[in-house]
Amino acid sequence: MNATPPSASPPESARSLAARVVTRVVDEGAFSSITLRYQLAASTLEGRDRGFTTELVYGTVTWLTPIDEALEAWMTQGLGSVPPLARAVLRVATYELLRPNRPGAAHAVVDEAVSQMHAIGLGRISGLTNAVLRKIARFGAPFAAHPDASSAATLATSGSLPLWIAERLLAARGPEGAAAAMAAWNGSSATHLRLRVPLTDVLRETFTAEGIEPHRTVPGCFVMRSGSAIKVALQLGDDVAVQDAGAQWIGLVAAEGLPATARIWDVCAGLGSKAVHLAELLPQAQVLATDLHAHKLNAARKAAGTLPGLRFLQADATAGPPGDEAGPYDLILLDAPCSGLGTIGRHPEVRWRRTPEDLTATSTLQRRLLETSAPHLAVGGRLVYAVCSWAPEEGREVIRDFLARHADFAEEPLPGESDQELPGRLLFPDTNDTDGFFVARLRRLC
Ligand SMILES: C[S@@+](CC[C@H](N)C(=O)[O-])C[C@H]1O[C@@H](n2cnc3c(N)ncnc32)[C@H](O)[C@@H]1O
Repeated sequence: MNATPPSASPPESARSLAARVVTRVVDEGAFSSITLRYQLAASTLEGRDRGFTTELVYGTVTWLTPIDEALEAWMTQGLGSVPPLARAVLRVATYELLRPNRPGAAHAVVDEAVSQMHAIGLGRISGLTNAVLRKIARFGAPFAAHPDASSAATLATSGSLPLWIAERLLAARGPEGAAAAMAAWNGSSATHLRLRVPLTDVLRETFTAEGIEPHRTVPGCFVMRSGSAIKVALQLGDDVAVQDAGAQWIGLVAAEGLPATARIWDVCAGLGSKAVHLAELLPQAQVLATDLHAHKLNAARKAAGTLPGLRFLQADATAGPPGDEAGPYDLILLDAPCSGLGTIGRHPEVRWRRTPEDLTATSTLQRRLLETSAPHLAVGGRLVYAVCSWAPEEGREVIRDFLARHADFAEEPLPGESDQELPGRLLFPDTNDTDGFFVARLRRLC
């Protein structure tokens, strides 16, 4: 009998899985968080390796500009001369070689990249892989933990951004602020938890054991800087929700001082995190949560569980509220669709996907949604407008123009100190320990 052993492919490693996810994200337009979740669920990797895969994927997608510059410098035929999966192997290895403050064994990184080229049938470029990565290990400059924002061009290169975003960020924050914001977005991001129940001793003990601390400004928000958020979320079940501190603050300032039985319309409820927060803050309120997409509302319903005053309805809000839901409402929350430029830490690919034209399109939709929702606010009622973007076209300019056209609306100050221009407030990771957001609170006067 022929006893030839079956050809064994090498076992999956964090680096090979990371390369597969990176090529899906960079070359095929997938989202890192979703792709990573699916790929990790299907893999046999455990504990530390899962964390390492996650770091490699987010790090590589974040630092694409200096990674590609380093590779192009040593590849005479350019990065485009090798197939997409090989590019991803090279990019992940370069990330590992140049990541700041993590001295690693360069030869192990290079050797595994060479083995991966063989494993994916590209042994012909193993020599090139070896030569290029060794050069980078020897001569490559580590990524700038604090980028140089003396010009848009230096910010784009050292902060790993497209030039047009670097220009806008510099205009919004000035050199120091832009550098600090990019350092925060490109650094390791924390997981924020929203407490859904009163703080018990058991919760306090878990938080202490996991190094979870209260957020410095947002009440009820807890910050997890390392460790497995999934593990903690599973352990604590429905007692906590994973939600960015800025998103939590928006719920708090929206609900502040409202009557207990307020009528609320969450116009763009998406997966429902803010609608659920509002329904929990005001358990006797009537909360209508609408969204264009029924599948998002289905997920929202599941996450919400049983909150008696909360209803989800599919609707295109550019035509106002659905059917006989015209209001008037005491609170309208317009958490509008946007570019997501404030989330480039958690979703690093967003910076590579968006274009200036996208901002024009989202700004037009945001203005339209404001015009179609605002008439349904009660006199004396509150309208909260929020976007997870710091771009003026999607935030301050939208509200400034709305107020100029609507003398029956006025800005209602937001709590906390601000030296920023009005209307509204910008939140950033370096100044507020949140994603980037724009928030404005308006009152209907008559
Ligand atoms: C920023 S997200 C909302 C996030 C959500 N409020 C939360 O806290 O999880 C914006 C939402 O607007 C929805 N949307 C886009 N166009 C819409 C429209 N014409 N009418 C209603 N919802 C719309 C999108 O489906 C998306 O879920």
